Amino acid sequence: MFLKFIIFTTFCSFTYSLPDLARLIRKNGYPAETHTATTEDGYIVTMHRIPHGKNSTVSGSPVLLTHGLGASSADYVNSGPGKGLGYVLADAGYDVWMGNARGNSYSMKHVSLDPKKDAQQFYNFSWHEIGYYDFPAQIDHILNKTSQESLYYIGHSQGGTAYFVLTSQRTEYNKKIKLASLLASSGIMQHENIMLEFISYFIEPLETLGNSLRIYSLPYPELLRFFLSEFCMVQEDICFFVYNMIVGYDDSAQFNMTMLPGIFKTTPSAFPLKSLYHYGQLIKSGEFKQYDFGSEENMIQYGSEKPPVYDFANITAPTAFYYGKNDMIIGTKDIDTMSSLIPNLAGKFMVKWDKWNHMDFLYAIDVVELLYNDLINLMKKY
Ligand SMILES: *[C@@H]1O[C@H](CO)[C@@H](O)[C@H](O)[C@H]1NC(C)=O
Ligand SMILES: *[C@@H]1O[C@H](CO)[C@@H](O)[C@H](O)[C@H]1NC(C)=O
Ligand SMILES: *[C@@H]1O[C@H](CO)[C@@H](O)[C@H](O)[C@H]1NC(C)=O
Ligand SMILES: *[C@@H]1O[C@H](CO)[C@@H](O)[C@H](O)[C@H]1NC(C)=O
Ligand SMILES: *[C@@H]1O[C@H](CO)[C@@H](O)[C@H](O)[C@H]1NC(C)=O
Repeated sequence: MFLKFIIFTTFCSFTYSLPDLARLIRKNGYPAETHTATTEDGYIVTMHRIPHGKNSTVSGSPVLLTHGLGASSADYVNSGPGKGLGYVLADAGYDVWMGNARGNSYSMKHVSLDPKKDAQQFYNFSWHEIGYYDFPAQIDHILNKTSQESLYYIGHSQGGTAYFVLTSQRTEYNKKIKLASLLASSGIMQHENIMLEFISYFIEPLETLGNSLRIYSLPYPELLRFFLSEFCMVQEDICFFVYNMIVGYDDSAQFNMTMLPGIFKTTPSAFPLKSLYHYGQLIKSGEFKQYDFGSEENMIQYGSEKPPVYDFANITAPTAFYYGKNDMIIGTKDIDTMSSLIPNLAGKFMVKWDKWNHMDFLYAIDVVELLYNDLINLMKKY
């Protein structure tokens, strides 16, 4: 029995270990590279690159793609050539760099900290540090390798939040961004779905509990990956229901269920919890501000009882917002507010599909026709 278990888990870890994305991309006939950059605070973050399209040999302008909370660069290649934004951009002539934020499954290294032994320190970050440290390291690495002065930026969900941090706090990076296209990005969170509002009341107790149990990140181990992939292969309906509960109910017209087991091989990625706690604070306060330690510690950290608010007025790079009507996580009115505060708004576009939800930006069946073509057309103007 025990031996069987060992054989089984060994099988799982071979079949369901985290896929090497560069290899997967090459298998689809595209060139691929893996790069790492070291941040000022010592995290070693990974990027996957598709330097050019299938039928080309030269690289065009670089574009950095960043992912949401609990996700990874796999978001942009999971749906394969012709659909995945990474492949679509490469075929449109761009040099595609897909980032991984610190603490996700592809970015688990640090120059001195061990994610297991030093978990409390290693996971002591939220999307603030991702925007403040990871993005500068990645952007500078890309600009150095390509000998360019600026690049395009595309962020999904948390990729938008951390972009606001970067461009409002390290304003010198605005000039390194030709155009930022933010897909379902969160910042000010006053009008999200009522369900999320409800959940936010449990986030603070969860933080206290997590810290007392010394749990700082939810891992995504092979066995779970195996279970979800196999389970969803035979129980599509249940998987689809759970998935919809989380991202916004779709009538399934835009969701290709056949893809779900494949998506589960990489997604969710490891899930660092402080980012979630920080989001909980945004929802409860309705303000887009730095991490709240409590008034006493705030005095030490920031010199004020309340954490500083991120200033949208500092974001001078051209920025475009794309959003969906049926997104549980992003409120339409919040997109209106944020876009009115950005000095150099490049556009605000609602995807023309009533049931468009948070994940449709990555996986919808008609995502190219409904979104990516317009997004690329706007990029060409900058
Ligand atoms: C690449 O070239 C082949 C042969 O000319 C063509 O069939 C295919 O559509 C091209 N693919 C892309 C993505 O441009
Ligand atoms: C976590 O980071 C804060 C600053 O953001 C620092 O004051 C604190 O000491 C750090 N805690 C640990 C355990 O590293
Ligand atoms: C890239 O970085 C290296 C090492 O720091 C430096 O020598 C080189 O000049 C840089 N290249 C560009 C194009 O900035
Ligand atoms: C952002 O803007 C505020 C005021 O609008 C300013 O005080 C602050 O210094 C700016 N931040 C940076 C990094 O320039
Ligand atoms: C659904 O996904 C499967 C597997 O990736 C693919 O073969 C099929 O063409 C997709 N169907 C549609 C309608 O996109």
